[in-house]
Amino acid sequence: MSRRRFIVVGQKATASPDFSLINLPASSGRLDVLLRCLRAALMYSHGLRHDTVVYLVLLGGPAAPRTLRVDGATARYLRPDERALAVLAQKVLAAPVEAGSNGFIEVRPGVAIAEGGLDAVLADLGSATLYVLEEGAPDVREAGLDALDQAFFLGDHLGFDKTTRARLASLGATPVGVGPVSVHADDAVALVVNELDRRATISRRR
Ligand SMILES: C[S@@+](CC[C@H](N)C(=O)[O-])C[C@H]1O[C@@H](n2cnc3c(N)ncnc32)[C@H](O)[C@@H]1O
Repeated sequence: MSRRRFIVVGQKATASPDFSLINLPASSGRLDVLLRCLRAALMYSHGLRHDTVVYLVLLGGPAAPRTLRVDGATARYLRPDERALAVLAQKVLAAPVEAGSNGFIEVRPGVAIAEGGLDAVLADLGSATLYVLEEGAPDVREAGLDALDQAFFLGDHLGFDKTTRARLASLGATPVGVGPVSVHADDAVALVVNELDRRATISRRR
């Protein structure tokens, strides 16, 4: 089965559950941006994409770095509204995880947490082909996008920090763009998902 993976790096997004659901953007280091990406990557109208895994890299606050992973193959009862997703993130971040745990620990069906940021993600990606979403990069429509397992990295409202950008470049991640305008991260996710959907439909017709 093919796999689509989306990794959103939240430079300030909080890695602890002490944020307000009433004022999510200001109290969570813009976790709302990451949650919208989660919805755009994982959900379609009335359904979950079983071939998609989303990683939210949380680099904000004293509990950071931590990474939340949602796997569409096994996740259950996810709702698309931002508040419901924020409640889910809050519960997962508050879940007791044994100190010194290594890798992703599933805390509810399809939803897991790991201590660590990019390193935890990279260890989980296996041999996925890596792409990095960058404004001004060559058009994603011209990219091969034919690997069975593909991973797309995105920045948050601040873009990428220098270290992350350099790390992804050193791993050989291919920069791809989704058009001439700098769009919101969740819109960039939606454009990539749409491109993949169109290609999958065309190859099914052949
Ligand atoms: C709101 S943008 C970041 C804007 C930020 N001010 C900057 O300069 O990087 C959030 C993320 O969406 C993705 N993105 C936005 N527009 C894009 C485009 N036209 N092509 C590719 N990726 C894009 C990138 O991953 C970017 O880091």
